[in-house]
Amino acid sequence: MRVLITGGAGFIGSHLAEAYLEKGDEVYVIDDLSTGTMDNLAPLQADERYRSRLFVHVDTILNHDRMLELTGTCDVVFHLAAAVGVQYILDNPLKSIKINVEGTEKVLELCAKFKKRVLITSSSEVYGKHLHAPLVETDNIIYGPSSKFRWSYAASKLMDEFTALAYFRTTGLEAIITRLFNTVGPRQTGAYGMVIPRLVSQALDNAPLTVYGDGTQTRTFTYVKDVVRGLSSLMACDGAVGEVFNIGGTEEISILNLARRIIQKTGAASTVELIPYEKAYAKDFEDMQRRVPSIDKIRGLVGYEPVTDLETILQQVIDYQRRH
Ligand SMILES: NC(=O)c1ccc[n+]([C@@H]2O[C@H](COP(=O)([O-])OP(=O)(O)OC[C@H]3O[C@@H](n4cnc5c(N)ncnc54)[C@H](O)[C@@H]3O)[C@@H](O)[C@H]2O)c1
Repeated sequence: MRVLITGGAGFIGSHLAEAYLEKGDEVYVIDDLSTGTMDNLAPLQADERYRSRLFVHVDTILNHDRMLELTGTCDVVFHLAAAVGVQYILDNPLKSIKINVEGTEKVLELCAKFKKRVLITSSSEVYGKHLHAPLVETDNIIYGPSSKFRWSYAASKLMDEFTALAYFRTTGLEAIITRLFNTVGPRQTGAYGMVIPRLVSQALDNAPLTVYGDGTQTRTFTYVKDVVRGLSSLMACDGAVGEVFNIGGTEEISILNLARRIIQKTGAASTVELIPYEKAYAKDFEDMQRRVPSIDKIRGLVGYEPVTDLETILQQVIDYQRRH
């Protein structure tokens, strides 16, 4: 099978590429390296088992001719390319919307034209400001005002979902929508606001671990290889077409406790420093207090379970950052 991965030089994309190369497939990557890096693909390019089956194009998904060629060539498309990360969205407000809305529309249009199955990676952010848990795919969506720009990421991902569903309804496009909750593991960068790599790197420097707000906000974390298994199982399942699925972990932890656990696991001489949101981000920021997925739907359809616990995830990230 020929698999196209947009954003394949990114954190999740590079693990997905590895999984399909391991299975013996051909993998085509398009990535403009805006937040991804060729370092993520270098071990795969250097591996003689994979080298001849990995094709990397450093280009933007907004390049129509390139996307035409790649979509025509491949059998299935994983669309991961996006502006990602709260800090990145706040720093690049217009570019982010263009990539996430216009870019996704182009990918879907070409998949419809060539009748190729496509899976898109939406986000738990689309749920907005819920306090209850777990979040179910059919829950309502609650956003802040457009003056609080962080909601543009959620709104752009929601628009991607609507566009995919509209193509499915009107053209029969085999679109699958996933809502990823915090995904973590080796190769993730802390540069754009991702909490675990950022806190681990602070701990390894014996610097204070900066926790935003009062630290009582909670999250679940999923190991990237568990997420990749979920994505490929859905891609292979006809029953997933035209549907929306949460993919996430089930172990809820406050960010304050996460920071304490990272200090303990690294043996760092660090303290935790609480930073008010208005200092950490611009004034147009709002956080979500809880974000815990129901994974009943994906479990029921493809038997998905996140098997890697937080302890193991943290150790993997610490080991990776120590090596790099
Ligand atoms: N990591 C998470 O916790 C998480 C949570 C929810 C959703 N997601 C979604 O999963 C996908 C992958 O995220 P990730 O965590 O691997 O982030 P990432 O930043 O590592 O990956 C995104 C990739 O897309 C590339 N890209 C951006 N704009 C592009 C363009 N115009 N053309 C080509 N490539 C472009 C980047 O260079 C990067 O390699 C994204 O769609 C993201 O919204 C991730």
